[in-house]
Amino acid sequence: MRGIAVYPGSFDPITKGHTTILQSGLVAFEKIIVAVLNNDKKEALFSVAERMEMIRESAADMGADPGRIEVDSFDGLLVGYAQRRNARVILRGLRAVADFEYELQMANMNRHLNPEVETVFIMANDAYFYVASNLVKEVARLGGNVSDLVPVPVLPRLLAKFDK
Ligand code: PNS
Repeated sequence: MRGIAVYPGSFDPITKGHTTILQSGLVAFEKIIVAVLNNDKKEALFSVAERMEMIRESAADMGADPGRIEVDSFDGLLVGYAQRRNARVILRGLRAVADFEYELQMANMNRHLNPEVETVFIMANDAYFYVASNLVKEVARLGGNVSDLVPVPVLPRLLAKFDK
């Protein structure tokens, strides 16, 4: 267990898929910086501040050592952010095969941009391999039950967005 990893993503919102990756990541890394992409181009349901707050609350709900998880936001190139934060590792979760090509492309592009930063993948827990923020939002919007799919602190905020 050593080193700092950056766990980047949109986290709109954080799901139980993300928290299980985070939990596994803590077995391998001393500290994980969960970095929310601050990207005006992408239409998001939650503001970056809301997403960061939900990640902090979910990490606390997981019982994680607060000294080992930091929540931050970034814009610009991920490898530049990782370097500024002295992180040599980018942590990503892998779910179904469908994730693979996109992740392979990103990992190789990031390696091309900065060969000193390695991307490390953790396989998603099979209980959550079908959980994606976009699907969770759609199901919640349509009134479906997502209570098992998101961390406890996220549920009321998600339902409030859709007046449920
Ligand atoms: O949760 P997501 O939306 O799959 O996360 C995607 C993310 C944030 C990892 C990716 O879009 C990203 O790294 N954006 C930052 C811009 C960048 O560095 N682009 C070049 C990498 S291919």
